[in-house]
Amino acid sequence: MEAHETIAILDFGSQYSQLIARRVRENHVYCELLPPNTPAERLRAMGVRGIILSGGPASVYDEHAPQCDNAIFTLDVPILGICYGMQVACAQLGGNVHGSESREYGRVRLHVTEPTGILAHLPSETSVWMSHGDVVSAVDDAFVSLAATADCPIAAVRHTSRPVFGVQFHPEVTHTPLGSQIVRNFVYDICNCRGDWRVERVIGDLVESVRAQVGPDARVICGLSGGVDSSVVAALVHRAIGERLVCVFVDNGLLRRDERDMVESTFRDHFGMTLRVVDARERFLNRLAGVLDPQEKRRIIGHEFIDVFKEAAQDVEQAHFLAQGTIYPDVIESGHGATGQAAMIKSHHNVGGLPEELGFELVEPLRLLFKDEVRHLGEALGLPEDLVWRHPFPGPGLAVRVAGELTVERLELLRSADEILLEELRAAGWYRKVAQGFAVLVPVESVGVMGDGRSYEGQHLVVIRLVETSDFMTADWVRIDQDLLGLISNRIINEIPGVNRVAYDVSSKPPATIEWQ
Ligand code: XMP
Repeated sequence: MEAHETIAILDFGSQYSQLIARRVRENHVYCELLPPNTPAERLRAMGVRGIILSGGPASVYDEHAPQCDNAIFTLDVPILGICYGMQVACAQLGGNVHGSESREYGRVRLHVTEPTGILAHLPSETSVWMSHGDVVSAVDDAFVSLAATADCPIAAVRHTSRPVFGVQFHPEVTHTPLGSQIVRNFVYDICNCRGDWRVERVIGDLVESVRAQVGPDARVICGLSGGVDSSVVAALVHRAIGERLVCVFVDNGLLRRDERDMVESTFRDHFGMTLRVVDARERFLNRLAGVLDPQEKRRIIGHEFIDVFKEAAQDVEQAHFLAQGTIYPDVIESGHGATGQAAMIKSHHNVGGLPEELGFELVEPLRLLFKDEVRHLGEALGLPEDLVWRHPFPGPGLAVRVAGELTVERLELLRSADEILLEELRAAGWYRKVAQGFAVLVPVESVGVMGDGRSYEGQHLVVIRLVETSDFMTADWVRIDQDLLGLISNRIINEIPGVNRVAYDVSSKPPATIEWQ
């Protein structure tokens, strides 16, 4: 992939670094997050077209503040410093940085005094997102100030003789409405990129690298979950090594309706892949009988999955490799990314992750791709649209959506509700507009009227949860059309015996989470 125009993002540990990368890639320019101290020589060897210095939590004068190799400023490659990144550039090339009296946080008005270069095409007033304690308080002749806010007189700068720019605010977050224009200014006008990154065009490279890694004889096992990432990995590895790929799909009894059929028809019938389907429904449900605690459910499901998977894969000869659908956000968030700093590790999300002691070497061809890129890759590989655009589904499946006891009946009930919800969302054109949507079965006996009296017997509450989000770390509830909500509720109550009440979840994350448990 080295042949592409590449922007390097030196990651000083900002929670928004990943967003910077996404904004650049959305402009069809390839980029990678790299450690802050990446040597200038390495960047030169990579032939990078531009360098972005991310924000970060440190103060440039802290003893252990992350630093960059100062030689990057003499590479004659355009540099954009964002927040802490701007302070690093100014501290290095001629400016004063100091702690400001008040921390500037949130949406503020930016007054643009020089709408050129990095701020080209911007109006004289616009709003931007700030989140900083330190400020650049003075620049000597080396820099020119381009914009100011009420609390921050030097909110954007350009160097007078080098292609170095800085913005104190965060153009990468959606709360800076014209932020994407700033990113475009940088990658196209300043770095002169043409925008040659299209994930479909690297299929050949990805296939080649899988072939090179696996060699001519070995086999690869791939655990298919029915989700997008593992499906795309399977399609890609299959293209690389054909029948030497053996897919394993575990039916744990916690899947959505028809999920197993869809996987079988797509991978076995359509692609002709070797697919082992393990019916482990009874085994899982026996182990989960009487378990109410969601973390305990997750633990049991995780362990059971590993055992079932091992048994299913043990007689595959020469299976030295395990293909996994690890994607770029997983790499960044698990702290194995650029900085090596442990960011938010989603410890409860690793169900289905297979432990190292299984002894496989990992094949992870999607490691550098974002989710939307994985979906485009999936389409280009011929996966069905329904599968490629599926909402994420948690590893422990319906176990965390059937709150309380897991029985075949309760799971079936939720499956029916979920099926109606998804069917109606699709029919109304809402499915693709929602990041994730599902039904939850809540263990309260709901009162209803039966004949002339009140009845509690066997009546359940189903909650509908629909969220919009781009990163799944924060999320908002979807302002869904009320008639559609009414239709879904009517169908669930009328068609599913045992449900007499439907509620809609209007909580955001944080403080709520997306799943109920
Ligand atoms: P939360 O509930 O943490 O969910 O806001 C964020 C995203 O993660 C998914 N999720 C899981 N995925 N195993 C998974 O593989 C899990 O245990 C798990 N719990 C939550 C959730 O569906 C959402 O997409």
